[in-house]
Amino acid sequence: MDNITPLTAKTSDTYFNYSKIIKQFGAEEINAELISKIESVTGKFKPAHKWLKRGIFFAHRDMNQLLDNYIKGKQFYLYTGRGPSAAMHIGHMIQFEFTKYLQDTFDVPVVVQMSDDEKFYFKDITLDETYKYTFENAKDIISCGFNPKKTFIFSNLDYIGYMYRNIVKLDKLTTCNNIRHTFGLPMGNDVYETICECNKKTNIPNIETCNIGQVGWASKQEAPVFCDSFPHLFGKRNDIQCLVPCAIDQSPYFRLVRDHAEKLGYPKPALIHSQFLVSLAGPNEKMNASTDPKYTIFLDDTPDMIKDKIKRNAFSGGGESLKLHREFGANLDIDVSYQYLKVFLDDDQLLDKITHDYGKGLMMTKDVKDILIDVMIKYVTDKQNKKKEITQEVLDDFFAIKNLNN
Ligand code: TRP
Repeated sequence: MDNITPLTAKTSDTYFNYSKIIKQFGAEEINAELISKIESVTGKFKPAHKWLKRGIFFAHRDMNQLLDNYIKGKQFYLYTGRGPSAAMHIGHMIQFEFTKYLQDTFDVPVVVQMSDDEKFYFKDITLDETYKYTFENAKDIISCGFNPKKTFIFSNLDYIGYMYRNIVKLDKLTTCNNIRHTFGLPMGNDVYETICECNKKTNIPNIETCNIGQVGWASKQEAPVFCDSFPHLFGKRNDIQCLVPCAIDQSPYFRLVRDHAEKLGYPKPALIHSQFLVSLAGPNEKMNASTDPKYTIFLDDTPDMIKDKIKRNAFSGGGESLKLHREFGANLDIDVSYQYLKVFLDDDQLLDKITHDYGKGLMMTKDVKDILIDVMIKYVTDKQNKKKEITQEVLDDFFAIKNLNN
């Protein structure tokens, strides 16, 4: 049983089964044909991102239509976001690194929503705290290398007025029942009691008792898919399509807005979805900043912390004894270190070798962990160095309400 909603992402299966999930979410699979279209659509062949080839970005909606229009010269823009309630971890970077790749490939504007209001509604955090994380987290996001001339980052608390007309229109079209489905919320306590095991462990409210900020939240995450939410970028136009790169758990919001877009006179947003980076603790839960920090690699961790967390806590799919490991090999589907290498190791050949050797029991968990430790320390240190270079002026510039073309 899966429990994947914007509020939680767990499965009571051994690991997330994405062919099942894709059906549940009514998305389409990213296949080889779509990948080669992405490679050639800009005119000059550019190899697809490793996350497309490795199936980390695995599902989409309307990518073909978006690319066909792009070939004909129609512009689009990218929208993604971050709920700033804690330090960022390596799992959060997937959507931003990928958005930056799309920006480079298609040379399009990016808007990034920092949903400090959302975190205030949903978490035990003050407004001041979440607003502070907006700027702290934005530096980590900027460290992915976004083009400062084509990227606008905004705090919802500050920017909401510009989007408010679109929010109000969405609010009017959205019923409480829509919201219940979007979040997978039960109706009353009876239903709550019978909901699946993994649900019970989370504190999912029901629609009668959750606060009204939570009920109203969806429209605020949806409004940026309408281009006139950004008059300084797109003027009064309403025809520029939006592409949203995000993890699959955010999909319900965008399904909802796809239902409403045409009624309001906008193109439906296209979507491109990633898998989750799992927790170090095991392959059936996504990495999470608010549970035990020893199972999460944060962008501000020191090399020693990273080494220690991976060594001690990364769930192993290796055989239970040396004999069993040599005989049957490791179960790569549940091996967390291997799953992380699939995401963060650039070298395709080395990954193939690990896939083969570890899968066959020729390589030990310790060797795989050692490779991962190196990869993660390099990744995190690089981000920390880039973050140090971001001055207040650079940060302010990304948040400035200015025309991106000059
Ligand atoms: N809801 C997301 C979170 O909880 C943050 C977010 C806001 C977002 N807008 C988005 C994510 C758009 C993806 C795309 O962290």
